[in-house]
Amino acid sequence: MKIAVIGQGYVGFPLAQLAAKSGFEVIGYDTNSNVIESLESFEPKLKLTNNEGLLTDCQIYVIAVPTPLDTKGEPDLSYVIEASWTLAKYAVNGSLVINESTSYPGTLREVILPIIDPSGVKVLFASAPERIDPLNKNWNLKNTTRVIGGLTQEATSKAEQFYATLCEQVHLVSSPEVAESAKLLENTFRQVNIAFINQFTQIMDKLNIPVHEVIEAANTKPFGFMKFTPGLGVGGHCIPIDPIYLAEKAELAGAQASLIRTADQINTQMPKFVMDRAIRLLGSDLSGKKVCIVGLSYKSNIADLRSSPSLALWDLLGATNAQVSYHDSFHPIFRGMKCVDLSSTQFDLAIVATRHSDLNISQLISSSQVVFDCTGTIAGVHWL
Ligand SMILES: NC(=O)c1ccc[n+]([C@@H]2O[C@H](COP(=O)([O-])OP(=O)(O)OC[C@H]3O[C@@H](n4cnc5c(N)ncnc54)[C@H](O)[C@@H]3O)[C@@H](O)[C@H]2O)c1
Repeated sequence: MKIAVIGQGYVGFPLAQLAAKSGFEVIGYDTNSNVIESLESFEPKLKLTNNEGLLTDCQIYVIAVPTPLDTKGEPDLSYVIEASWTLAKYAVNGSLVINESTSYPGTLREVILPIIDPSGVKVLFASAPERIDPLNKNWNLKNTTRVIGGLTQEATSKAEQFYATLCEQVHLVSSPEVAESAKLLENTFRQVNIAFINQFTQIMDKLNIPVHEVIEAANTKPFGFMKFTPGLGVGGHCIPIDPIYLAEKAELAGAQASLIRTADQINTQMPKFVMDRAIRLLGSDLSGKKVCIVGLSYKSNIADLRSSPSLALWDLLGATNAQVSYHDSFHPIFRGMKCVDLSSTQFDLAIVATRHSDLNISQLISSSQVVFDCTGTIAGVHWL
């Protein structure tokens, strides 16, 4: 069986690889030729291309393109729409189109279908949102249950057959809207709980109570509690963005999404809280002070900078006239600056935003007068 995966990023490329390993003939299609070039060297088993002509005669087309926010902070479905127009040329009678991109409920039925098959009778459609957490050692594409909702029974069972060859378990739901909503529920759950613990941290700070000790105490309860820890904010392509897709759809339908909106605000404002705490720790304003941001990526051990709160922190620090530099082994050069060597530079303040595994803790501690660790993982220094 020949399949095409549209978009070869964090989601599409691993899927294309796994499908190729599982015996499918796979076309990995991406409009960005740099992406194709960078991946080509280490993937002989699948055909990577930016030539859309190779998309003919596939039985399955999987859409895995970005779903960001636009400059107004609203859902931007332009990539999904563009991919759908491409597939409109190639999907034929009986082809199955699966959307894995995260989006609001109704995207498959109301946005993708009308472009690809306005009559709605030729092509089969299913939603099977990707749930991958890049670099997670325990949970991957294979052992994370795949939720599938087709527009018709036939679409659901064809999608089920496909994913059953790739994933250990599939979970079928009654419609694409259920699958789309489930994905948004998962990520909004994280956004809201992270915001709650971040706000709780600010409350504990005002009351002068050590928040981590409180969290550990609460976490001894074996039921009805789930541990979340504070941090600089949320980043990446999912947690800061997907809840906004849900809120927009909710508000358009006349429902309230105030909790989601507030959670977004709390997380977005965390870099300001962190900076204010840092000023208190230092006992003076930051003007002229040498400040090092440790960890630019939005999470450990990856280079991904998308929506990273470290960059928001950098902008805030820059506005105070602090001398900002950074240390992050995944980014040798950033904003025209070089990653600083912790063994040979001295700072007034180091703020640990993200802790990569290769961070040299003893060098960090000796490099800075004050170390403020937002990850809550480095012993003997200040924590959020
Ligand atoms: N990154 C994650 O951890 C993750 C996890 C689960 C779900 N998702 C969701 O999966 C989707 C893809 O995310 P990603 O992280 O892989 O994005 P990405 O930016 O890493 O990759 C998307 C790729 O699609 C390509 N592209 C854009 N428009 C195209 C088009 N019309 N035709 C062909 N290729 C096109 C881009 O060039 C890019 O290489 C998003 O909806 C995202 O929310 C991401």
